[in-house]
Amino acid sequence: FSSGLLAGKRVLITAGPTREALDPVRYISNHSSGRMGYALATAAVDAGARTTLVSGPVNLPVPEHVQCHRVESALEMLEKCQQLVADCDIFIACAAVADYRPAQVQPQKIKKGDDTTTLELVKNPDIVSTVAASENGPFTVGFAAETRDVLHYARSKMQRKSLDMIIANDVSDSSIGFNSAENEVTVLWPGGEQTLARANKAAIARQIVELIANHR
Ligand code: PMT
Repeated sequence: FSSGLLAGKRVLITAGPTREALDPVRYISNHSSGRMGYALATAAVDAGARTTLVSGPVNLPVPEHVQCHRVESALEMLEKCQQLVADCDIFIACAAVADYRPAQVQPQKIKKGDDTTTLELVKNPDIVSTVAASENGPFTVGFAAETRDVLHYARSKMQRKSLDMIIANDVSDSSIGFNSAENEVTVLWPGGEQTLARANKAAIARQIVELIANHR
């Protein structure tokens, strides 16, 4: 790992979960801790890149030399990324963005009523696809969090979202992936793939950054 790998490059990374509000006190979210995305930000800084995070709500310190923009919802994350993307060479989508949000955010706390209730959800825009589709866009890297047929789904996600690279993360194993210290992933690009053996997220992040630097 050389500290000049991404010298002069600008890297934008999404990290953490999003929160999709139901009412003033409740939301829909997931178990992303932000650790993988923050480790990628540290690795990008160490590789010499000017590094920016767009982060959902997490409990982590912002890595040194990283500019961090905090957001809550998928719509806020998209808006912030759209503001920043023109100024970036490499975009890494590590955030676990909610695919759906409540159709309506109630202005008052929802009262307990019937024994069953139904939530209407609407699809969120896809942030990484939007970035990948932008004209003269950055080298775009996505993640694929899957619980089965991991490599198959990851490769089709890469094609469907027009990504330059995708990182397949088997999240059926709770000792890796969401909210754990370690990870084990396969990095796929149009002409090949490489599996990164189980290691802490800092080590995985450095290997991912190295692969990005070599393939962009
Ligand atoms: O945060 P940690 O606890 O360290 O956990 C790390 C992680 C498991 C969250 C991370 O390694 C990971 O896999 N992140 C992607 C999680 C995810 O939502 O994957 P997905 O397969 O649903 O989404 C595919 C890709 O599209 C991802 O790059 C995602 O950021 C992006 N996406 C998804 C939906 C959406 N509306 N907008 C997006 O940009």
